[in-house]
Amino acid sequence: MVIMTSSMTFQPVLERIAAEIERTPGRGRPADYIPALAACDPRSFGMAVAELDGTVYGVGDWREPFSTQSLTKVFTLALDLAREGDELWEHVGREPSGNPFNSLIQLEYENGIPRNPFINAGALVVTDRLQTRTGDAAGELLAFLRSESGNPALDFDQQVAASEASHGDRNAALAHFMASYGNIDNPIPVLLDQYFRQCSVTASCADLALATTFLARHGIRADGTRLLTQSQAKQVNAVMLTCGTYDAAGDFAYRVGLPGKSGVGGGIIAVVPGRCTLCVWSPGLDERGNSVAGVAALDRFTTLTGVSVF
Ligand code: DON
Repeated sequence: MVIMTSSMTFQPVLERIAAEIERTPGRGRPADYIPALAACDPRSFGMAVAELDGTVYGVGDWREPFSTQSLTKVFTLALDLAREGDELWEHVGREPSGNPFNSLIQLEYENGIPRNPFINAGALVVTDRLQTRTGDAAGELLAFLRSESGNPALDFDQQVAASEASHGDRNAALAHFMASYGNIDNPIPVLLDQYFRQCSVTASCADLALATTFLARHGIRADGTRLLTQSQAKQVNAVMLTCGTYDAAGDFAYRVGLPGKSGVGGGIIAVVPGRCTLCVWSPGLDERGNSVAGVAALDRFTTLTGVSVF
């Protein structure tokens, strides 16, 4: 193990990890329930580390844009929490669900209040509330990602959004069911349109590592202004650790030891509070919807460097 000191660069460790991943057979399968994602090459692999001053290290396909999907749930949570504060937690919980990310089963037992903001039901509630407060939840998200990453070219992928909308029965069912409990404010078609556009944002590992640094800076944005209080940044990181990788969150915490959030596009973002952020991308998923090579690479990163929250 190489214990990192603050003067060391992350580049050599990223190159070592990429070489190890290259030799690893069996990288899972790209998501196929959103047809536009099924065509991704499962052998793509990129990884980036961003330091708090904006320095970024990267390896492999780290500048290649990919579909962010559920990674965006971290940013919509932060944007809504910044506006409404603790009232949000009356509408969405913060316990791990132990169920798949698109499961309906707990909603009826728990009166339409989703377990946490990172399963699809919880993310729909967050986007609905952000939509009520801003009139354009997906637009707010995109503006935030552009400014934090310093990349004004980030955009929605209309083809991915349309592909997901045409196969969106399960998300529509979740939204309608929660609406029956009074936990959705906006018309369902408006909410689904916002949510599918949110999930369709395309960005690279470099963009996403940079966009996540506000969580490592305890709530401070790239321009020095504050989005979240220090306490709220701690809360978002904690919910990422316990709920960010769905029914694999325990195993992810055990292997990686960092707050992390996965998406079915194959991306994972992770936070080392006070130190740096990471984003890894490889489209092959395990049966729980987490990138196989992505989790392996983060596991190797924290093991090789000793950088983790534990
Ligand atoms: O709503 C969906 O099913 C997708 N747009 C996002 C799901 C996702 O990324 C879950 N992550 N592993």
